[in-house]
Amino acid sequence: MLWIQVRRIRGGFRTSSERSLHTNRRTGFHRPSRLDAWCDCLRATMRRRSQGASSAHRQLKRLSSSNRMLSPRSDAIGQLILAHYKGLPSVEIIERDDGWFGVSTGATAYFAPFEQWPSVERRAMRWVRGRVLDVGCGAGRVALHLQAPDSKVVSIDISPVAIKTCRLRGVRDARVCSITSVSARLGEFDTVLMFGNNFGLFGNPRRARWLLRRLHGLTSPTARIVAESRDPYRTTSVEHRRYHQLNRRRGKLPGQLRIRVRFGHARTPWFEYLIVSPREMRNIVAGTGWQVARLIRTTGADYVVVLEKTAA
Ligand SMILES: C[S@@+](CC[C@H](N)C(=O)[O-])C[C@H]1O[C@@H](n2cnc3c(N)ncnc32)[C@H](O)[C@@H]1O
Repeated sequence: MLWIQVRRIRGGFRTSSERSLHTNRRTGFHRPSRLDAWCDCLRATMRRRSQGASSAHRQLKRLSSSNRMLSPRSDAIGQLILAHYKGLPSVEIIERDDGWFGVSTGATAYFAPFEQWPSVERRAMRWVRGRVLDVGCGAGRVALHLQAPDSKVVSIDISPVAIKTCRLRGVRDARVCSITSVSARLGEFDTVLMFGNNFGLFGNPRRARWLLRRLHGLTSPTARIVAESRDPYRTTSVEHRRYHQLNRRRGKLPGQLRIRVRFGHARTPWFEYLIVSPREMRNIVAGTGWQVARLIRTTGADYVVVLEKTAA
């Protein structure tokens, strides 16, 4: 809807005005001064509108790129998960925009039973209650753990193949849906769960604040967000520290990664993935209607936050 409006503003104004200006130039017609002033005014309006339109356009493009349905060729994470489900080799390659490549533990962790989850996640489960939204559910390990006849878990993932695998594994309510498309149509939630470092799906601080506000409106008054992140500064890697410097120079947070995932011939589009320290997390969350109520951590870099709603 908004997209149509933007195109109409851009297209309509640009074509009619350009046509009249070109015609005048071609004919050499001298415009009376009042007409000149009117044209200047119109041009200024057009410039303002087209600037507004192009920033709206950029924003829409950014949003729609994160909403876009993944093709089998770009659904690398889904293909990896399905391969692991079928007992085939599954190695996840992470490619970063500075040329760095890494191999992740990948699919094994996505299938782990509760007893094998990282201790921060097991401890964090005590803060999970009521109707749960499992964001970026992967192979559905959280839903399979929580699922009981009377429990309500909605599992969402941007990957159609991951959702197909969830269903094959017995996840009852698994849907293809991006975090940016979560809406009241899914119903109200008491817990939003983001395990497997899925705080990263917020992408960047601006998008995180936008999504946190949105989740605020889609959850019950006493709802919680239970989200896992990773402190980027707890690293001894020279490569990672160099990347932090690069990001600082680019005006980004050091842990604001731009990556894509490869598996076999499939690769995801480039996407932003945000890892933050607990302090950066507090700054991002401030003013969104949420606050860090609890921080669960071990000696490692991974930690889980429990966010609760601030008093109105
Ligand atoms: C690191 S995996 C974590 C999987 C699962 N939460 C777990 O801990 O086992 C991240 C998952 O998020 C999904 N994902 C990526 N971008 C997403 C988005 N914009 N919206 C929803 N899910 C997304 C991926 O397809 C992938 O399954």
